[in-house]
Amino acid sequence: MRHGSWSLLTFHSKGDQRGQLVALQEGFEIPFEIKRVYYLTRTLAGVTRGMHAHIDLDQVLIAVSGKCRVLVDNGVTRESFILDDCQKGLRITNLVWREMSDFSSDCVLLVLANRYYEPLDYVREYSDFLRLSTANSNSVG
Ligand code: TYD
Repeated sequence: MRHGSWSLLTFHSKGDQRGQLVALQEGFEIPFEIKRVYYLTRTLAGVTRGMHAHIDLDQVLIAVSGKCRVLVDNGVTRESFILDDCQKGLRITNLVWREMSDFSSDCVLLVLANRYYEPLDYVREYSDFLRLSTANSNSVG
């Protein structure tokens, strides 16, 4: 098994003189089955959200409006992204610690996920995350 991973996806715009349109389809622009969609809006200044990892969840995060920072960490590497482009999506696999911060007042952070909401899938303690991440990367298969 490997450590959790992330990648930046680029979406084409079907924009014209009337404005922009970005279409996201399961199995095409989004590389997994879309079971859940949610969005974070009106996030107060100075707030950090997330601060958890998931045991088994694929997600794509898109700032469809405004901008925010997303820090991702797989227990070995950490990287910080500024999401400020509705044609970019940050794909995050399982066992990635994430923290979202520096939300602009107009930020709408759209999240697509491949599973229904499951509270038991959350890892909320960083030490638990590191332990699980190490165990996962050491396991065979
Ligand atoms: P929370 O996990 O604290 O959000 P974040 O990780 O962005 O800081 O979720 C806030 C609340 O929303 C919490 O009561 C759980 C609920 N929630 C759902 O009901 N469904 C969902 O898909 C998500 C992501 C959260």
